[in-house]
Amino acid sequence: MGSQISWESRFARRAARITSSTIRELLKMAQQPGMITFSGGLPAPELFPAEAMAQASARLLREKANQALQYSTTEGYPALREWVAARLPGTQPDQVLMVSGSQQALDLLGKIFIDVGSPVAVESPTYMGALSAFNPYEPEYLSIAMDEEGMIPEALEAVLQRGPRFVYALPTFQNPSGRLMSLERRRKLVELADKYSVPIVEDDAYAELYYSDQKLPTLYSLDQQMRGGGEGNVIYLSTFSKTLAPGLRVAYAAGPRAVIHKLVQAKQGADLHTGSLNQMLVYEMVKYGLEEQLSKIRQTYTARRDVMLEALAQHLPKGIVWNQPKGGMFIWVQLPQGMDAVSLFKKALEQKVTFVPGQPFHADGSGHNTLRLSFSNAEPELIREGIRRLGRAAEEEMELVR
Ligand SMILES: Cc1ncc(COP(=O)(O)O)c(C=O)c1O
Repeated sequence: MGSQISWESRFARRAARITSSTIRELLKMAQQPGMITFSGGLPAPELFPAEAMAQASARLLREKANQALQYSTTEGYPALREWVAARLPGTQPDQVLMVSGSQQALDLLGKIFIDVGSPVAVESPTYMGALSAFNPYEPEYLSIAMDEEGMIPEALEAVLQRGPRFVYALPTFQNPSGRLMSLERRRKLVELADKYSVPIVEDDAYAELYYSDQKLPTLYSLDQQMRGGGEGNVIYLSTFSKTLAPGLRVAYAAGPRAVIHKLVQAKQGADLHTGSLNQMLVYEMVKYGLEEQLSKIRQTYTARRDVMLEALAQHLPKGIVWNQPKGGMFIWVQLPQGMDAVSLFKKALEQKVTFVPGQPFHADGSGHNTLRLSFSNAEPELIREGIRRLGRAAEEEMELVR
């Protein structure tokens, strides 16, 4: 009999930075019958345009199987790249790379920009999945303090002066906080990034999920405007996960050709290309516009957000505060100082309701008294009941810390 390999000792050094957070372990415990979950950033499945997709896939497989089922180019399905480019100011199709979820773009960006110890600027809080994507490349995070209007300019400038490889920004309905960066702050960020020659990675997954008339320009377009066109400083990421279906794993990166070219090379080594059938299916779904689908999503999520806000006001004890997001999928909750969201999470599990404790969204380890609630996935009745349960858990937890 051979001896058992000690696998931990065989892993590369970077594997030590690939861990599943305690939060993910906690969330696994939450998969029980009767649980109401506000933890995942999951779209409402009843809004998936499944019937239209069934017909479009059948058509593609009947009429274009040779292309849909064949290996393809790394850059992506040309018609879809053209569609994307036409929607971005001053952008040609060769500046667009289709990726297997924006999560892949984050990984590839980490691969091409981050050396061990490279400074990388992130908002505080920021998208936990981006930290997971960057971590194996061993960056040193520089956290930028935020308020309800986004990154605070003084904090931002202090970080930019330290020469990060890039600043990772989520200006529109940020995951996790739901915050919308103000126009003035957007302009400031674009100007400062230009002044210090720091690239911006703009992750814009929620742009179409706005629930008021206020639609602000992207950093990508402001940067273009400032330069009067041409290639800029911003690498723009977006995805079809929140507007069509996340299971398709179709998203894109757009930006300067030199960056896109390097990303293409990195993607070749990762997965050769994003699924051809899925890209072609996305194109079939978007080519005549997505307005009907988007308006259904906006209506449903607006109603769910409102129900959750109302229930929070009704059931959460005094001292706990939250924001009123104008779009996206999340509400950000702040507990009183000294009250711990993980501890509340355990109480919430007993009441059969879940959320995501906020600390893992903070690269600097802060945020113990914060948490994220997702309102997109649960029906209104369940939202009311779930927040009632959360209120009970919060009362109990507050008794303990008093
Ligand atoms: C801000 C942000 N970026 C990226 C992603 C990953 O999206 P995708 O499904 O395109 O990989 C998510 C998913 O929740 C997200 O919230």
